[in-house]
Amino acid sequence: MVTIVFLRPCITHLKEDHMALQEVPRIDLSLFNTRTRAGRQKCGTAILESFVAYGFVRITGHRIGMSKPTVQNVYEEAKKYFALPEAEKLMHMSPSKDCQAGFAPFGHEHAKDSAHVDLKEFFTIGQELPWGHPVLDDKLYVRNIWPDEARGNEKFRKACLDLYREAEQLAVLILGCLSLVLVEEEEWLSSMVYYGDTKMRVIHYPSLRKCRELLPGKEIDGEIRSSPHEDINLITILPWATSEGLQILTRENEWLPIRTEGEEMVVNVGDMLSRITNNLLPSTTHRVVNPADENEHRLSIPVFIHPRPRVRLAVPKALQDRRLPFPPMILARTFLYERLVEIGNIADSGFDPTSLERE
Ligand SMILES: [Fe+2]
Repeated sequence: MVTIVFLRPCITHLKEDHMALQEVPRIDLSLFNTRTRAGRQKCGTAILESFVAYGFVRITGHRIGMSKPTVQNVYEEAKKYFALPEAEKLMHMSPSKDCQAGFAPFGHEHAKDSAHVDLKEFFTIGQELPWGHPVLDDKLYVRNIWPDEARGNEKFRKACLDLYREAEQLAVLILGCLSLVLVEEEEWLSSMVYYGDTKMRVIHYPSLRKCRELLPGKEIDGEIRSSPHEDINLITILPWATSEGLQILTRENEWLPIRTEGEEMVVNVGDMLSRITNNLLPSTTHRVVNPADENEHRLSIPVFIHPRPRVRLAVPKALQDRRLPFPPMILARTFLYERLVEIGNIADSGFDPTSLERE
């Protein structure tokens, strides 16, 4: 078993190696035989070491999930979707305006503690199962909102759902490998995400020229494409974006660009995983900066891998270091709700965080 105590020397070693290179490590999954437990353990160790040092990893050579044609399909359909008239897209906005499904217009979201809106519009897709499916609790899962299929938008829906399913498969592999190394139980993390409340976001960052037209003062005054933030979920899987701009804040407090090549993906730790590993894995601050080219648009498709809403987020015994205090158990839905209120995506409706535990 790889314990925290065992990990410390290899973390130090990694920090020296990769900090000198100033690049987030790249892991080629095809080099590991993930059909065997030993192979998955080696793979998990490689991912874990990068997560400990950076909170991020670049992944290539994946045989399952997030294939190039599936990602490209979403980009092609997304271009058509975001080109629709604003009035039409606003019809796909959730009545609660909480951005958990459907369209969110330009200027709707800002990062926690940021006074500036992000320069983006986006479309969110959640778990799509037949209504009445026993796993779906209608009080806790948000139903997807889709563009009018009669107008030829069914391709957008299919492309998004295909990628969503592939992302779930890859997440199970990555979380299983990580769990093996962290607690010797492969199902620890992966079992949390079956029929999970995972959200896929198709994000469009308009050109800066267009943003000026859209901002109230017609000037970009401190706004950037995505303000510094941490992700809320367990892990985020991000297939290659259509252009660069993603940066992470290193432990030296410096912004480090993440560049990807070909079909490379970026995977990062979110706050939930950070919490249940008692901060062994950091949820690293990241942002998307504005481009030099005034006319450059950008599309990206982060998939925020979430547990089922009633999953209990608790630090397992194997990760409880008696010298360090660790956070109490919290239900995934409660944790998500509290963070959504903080970033302004949902009004504080007086939801009682303990109500689910009493049910
Ligand atoms: Fe993020």
